[in-house]
Amino acid sequence: MSSILKPTNQIVQPEAKSDGRWHPLSWNQFDIAQLPEYPDTEELRRAYYELKSLPPLITSWEIEALKEKLAQASMGKAFLIQGGDCAETFDSCNSVKLVNMLKVMLQMSFILIHEMGIPIIRVGRVAGQYAKPRSQNYEEVNGEQMMSYRGDLINSYLPNRDARVPDPQRLVTAYQKAALSLNFLRALSDEGFADLQHPGQWELDFMQNNEFYEEYEQMVNTIKKAIKFMDAIIPNKLNTTHKVDFYTSHEALNLFYESAQTRTVPRKEGWFNLSGHMVWLGNRTQQLDGAHIEYLRGIENPIGIKVGPPFSPDALIDILDRINPSHEAGKIVLITRMGHANVATELSKYINRVRRSGHPVVWSCDPMHGNTYATGNNFKTRRFDDILQEIRETFAVHRSEGSYLGGVHLELTGDNVTECVGGANGLNEEGLGINYETYCDPRLNYEQSLEMSFLVAKEWNRAKNQI
Ligand code: PEP
Ligand code: CO
Repeated sequence: MSSILKPTNQIVQPEAKSDGRWHPLSWNQFDIAQLPEYPDTEELRRAYYELKSLPPLITSWEIEALKEKLAQASMGKAFLIQGGDCAETFDSCNSVKLVNMLKVMLQMSFILIHEMGIPIIRVGRVAGQYAKPRSQNYEEVNGEQMMSYRGDLINSYLPNRDARVPDPQRLVTAYQKAALSLNFLRALSDEGFADLQHPGQWELDFMQNNEFYEEYEQMVNTIKKAIKFMDAIIPNKLNTTHKVDFYTSHEALNLFYESAQTRTVPRKEGWFNLSGHMVWLGNRTQQLDGAHIEYLRGIENPIGIKVGPPFSPDALIDILDRINPSHEAGKIVLITRMGHANVATELSKYINRVRRSGHPVVWSCDPMHGNTYATGNNFKTRRFDDILQEIRETFAVHRSEGSYLGGVHLELTGDNVTECVGGANGLNEEGLGINYETYCDPRLNYEQSLEMSFLVAKEWNRAKNQI
């Protein structure tokens, strides 16, 4: 267990004085998990105020639009796909990785739209997903004891003691990397949209040995035809005026980063975290009287809450009451991550307890974080079949409870990595070393992601036809 820090009070200033009322820095009076102490308080203060002075990355009306769409998903009228890296690194802020990521998310969403016939809400784990919770504060590397790597927002992955010291300047660098990523993603989804959908961009050969190949090929052909048709009837319109909605999200973990970008806007009530459209509460920062819940209760953004072990439906209701006391629709996404073996025994308890509480929520399934294991030669990996199994079980439980699974949450990349085993291409444990890139959790690659979205759509249709 990583320790819980006492309130740091590191940058408390007059506006944040504790009087029981919420403020972007009121969390600073509470115990906090998963945030290491910055040794240089003065530098932290400087970085914080620099970040606070910079323009926002997104707007309040985008946040409100996303909330409205999520309200639709909570009623079974839309479906959420949230996906991206486990941890973005500063180095991964480059053209190829961003194009590949947007491409795979768009193609997955087209598969879902085609198969489900309802609006798909795309949310990337991107442009801010730079901080990671860790189970140990310290680790030993090459015989030397040093702080654990906590993501580029906090320290460097380089294995030396100095590089592992939390560096406040990274708060500003993360903002800059997020801004650059977002700028490019926005440009691509405005202007580069048609090109990303160019038929040549769909790579399908890997599915050839799969039982669903024909069905899959037919579906992709229909999607290509539809795009061509749209292109023909509104020439140039697709790439000039047809903007694709793509939202950003990250775990609200480093509360200095979050609160410096939490602002009010003219003519609107409330505080908006303008660093990303949606943020989520991770599985390890759910202390009811801790800093993270204190921070999250004050913002207008949609908030994801991971739901997993240690299992306690009552504790979840306490969190919901604290974060969404007014039962606002579209505000909460419950992201269950139970592990494929636990879904059948645990999930229905949550569904029933939440239903009894009257909280409106979007149910989403994270089939990744409960299904990680290490191979004999120490690769952290996940089995495609376990991931699929968790999705199937989750659909099945919602189906039998008369509830609606409104989304999936996946760690994925558009790159051709070898991090998860299985899928149509049959990657096995021996193949993991070929292109294993992640510093954190293993991600589905391009092919595995497309295949997964196809199988998710199949499950969704099964659920729909049986309700
Ligand atoms: C994550 O989503 O990367 C993560 C760390 O998940 P969890 O908090 O559910 O373990
Ligand atoms: Co992860």
